[in-house]
Amino acid sequence: MSIENQENYQAPTEIKDLDIVNTYELEEAAKEVVPKGGYGYISGGSGDEFTKKQNIESFNHKGVLPRVLADVENPDLETTILGHKIRAPFIMAPIAAHGLAHETKEAGTAKGVAEFGTIMSISAYSGATFEEIEKGLNGAPRWFQLYMSKDDELNKLIVDEAKKDGATAIILTADATLSGNRETDIRNQFVYPFGMPIVSRYLTGSGENMSLNNIYAQSKQKISPKDVEFLASYSELPIIVKGIQTPEDALIAIRAGAAGIWVSNHGGRQLDGAPGSFDTLKGIAKAVGGEVPVIFDSGVRRGEHIFKAIASGADIVALGRPMLYGLALGGWKGVRSVLEYFETDLRRVMQLAGTQTVEDIKRAKLYDFKK
Ligand code: LAC
Repeated sequence: MSIENQENYQAPTEIKDLDIVNTYELEEAAKEVVPKGGYGYISGGSGDEFTKKQNIESFNHKGVLPRVLADVENPDLETTILGHKIRAPFIMAPIAAHGLAHETKEAGTAKGVAEFGTIMSISAYSGATFEEIEKGLNGAPRWFQLYMSKDDELNKLIVDEAKKDGATAIILTADATLSGNRETDIRNQFVYPFGMPIVSRYLTGSGENMSLNNIYAQSKQKISPKDVEFLASYSELPIIVKGIQTPEDALIAIRAGAAGIWVSNHGGRQLDGAPGSFDTLKGIAKAVGGEVPVIFDSGVRRGEHIFKAIASGADIVALGRPMLYGLALGGWKGVRSVLEYFETDLRRVMQLAGTQTVEDIKRAKLYDFKK
């Protein structure tokens, strides 16, 4: 038996604005309110958590250079990604089972994201239906993240539903065909306390009381460039391949029809021993050469991390764990507070680095500590 099951899993319920000093303290506070199994699942990495730690540490391999006499005031964070104008260069990353963090589930996150003015990524392993999430989004833009079924007819059905729901891109997560070695979940005997309505049609159960390993095993494990081709031609939507950590794989994905490259090591939850995601970004962005947009995640906790990622070739970044901590502590308002925190922090970094716009960040040179 797991330590929490459907009957006794008590997700937080509070809805309030948050005063955020930094996202590390936000995580500490979330730990106090999220049940142990859920918190362990959200916060945990794999193995030694070397990669999870490197994700944050790797940002310290580069420095932001202060620039003066730059004629800058009140920097503008607005940018455009795949046709969407967004308030700031960051979006919600796809994460499974938001109901672990708050009773409003993905609808809560969606409302916070929509109220702020950026893009929601809906996970295939969402604990809410498209209809429930729409109540929070209220027409705001959304991308759909797919874990494929082994059966392409079911994949077509899921893609049809996502399209009908209004998804403007499909994120194909390619690095999670099998779960990383999540020792916290093993220790807690973690199973999801509720189902996953979007993918339940290809699971032996609803997802409730199932482990991640079990769910991944029932999802498609043998993913190849053919899947990118299939999804691109069937959906006629931009396909963003997520989990790219090498220039080679970025080029393979683009040749197969990817319309976006998502640089990520899954927040250090998959292959432990992988480098910090930021360390891989510059080489990948160089190989992509502007052909398609580059989205970056893993380890983003401060405005300067966003600045460094964009200065290294990312067009936007995606925010993961801190968003669920905000959800846990304040529901949709907490999510909005996290986004506002990143906005304030990034605007300060932009000002002190002499950059007026996101395009200016792209042109900024970072200091290389290894020189
Ligand atoms: C995870 C999957 C579901 O990292 O994306 O837990």
